[in-house]
Amino acid sequence: MNAYEPWSAARCNEIITSHSHVEGGVIVILHAIQDAFGYVPEPAIPMIAEARNLSRAEVHGVFTFYHDFRHEPAGKRVLKICRAEACQAAGGDALAARAEQKLGVKLGNTTADDRVTLEPIYCLGLCATAPSAMLDGKLVGRLDEKRMDALVAEAQR
Ligand code: FES
Repeated sequence: MNAYEPWSAARCNEIITSHSHVEGGVIVILHAIQDAFGYVPEPAIPMIAEARNLSRAEVHGVFTFYHDFRHEPAGKRVLKICRAEACQAAGGDALAARAEQKLGVKLGNTTADDRVTLEPIYCLGLCATAPSAMLDGKLVGRLDEKRMDALVAEAQR
């Protein structure tokens, strides 16, 4: 199962409150909410608006402007592929393309059967064993075509 928490308004409020003094405003909060729940649930928008003294339209505008934010829950499994420098230099581009092709979705999307969400991530701290990926919180390094295929197959199970 993916490592995200189920939606909870109380938890969302906690996240918003814990970011009340953080620079960067709405984008930072949206990211924190997505990190917790795997997407930004619609009820989070008015909660952020209220906490930041903004209109819902303003928060919604930020939410829809950036393509980073997911509007729907993530799939059952989440496969994150590192797209940062060390992994790219080690052949990460071809492996990311391979995962996209095997799953039939582009990075940032979920398969039609809701089983797998494929996401880019920017450094997993596993550069020494690049190229790297993470399946539901489990780190995997030293990827090659064979290991990527096995990882995709595991995500689809
Ligand atoms: S660049 Fe991929 S793990 Fe650091």
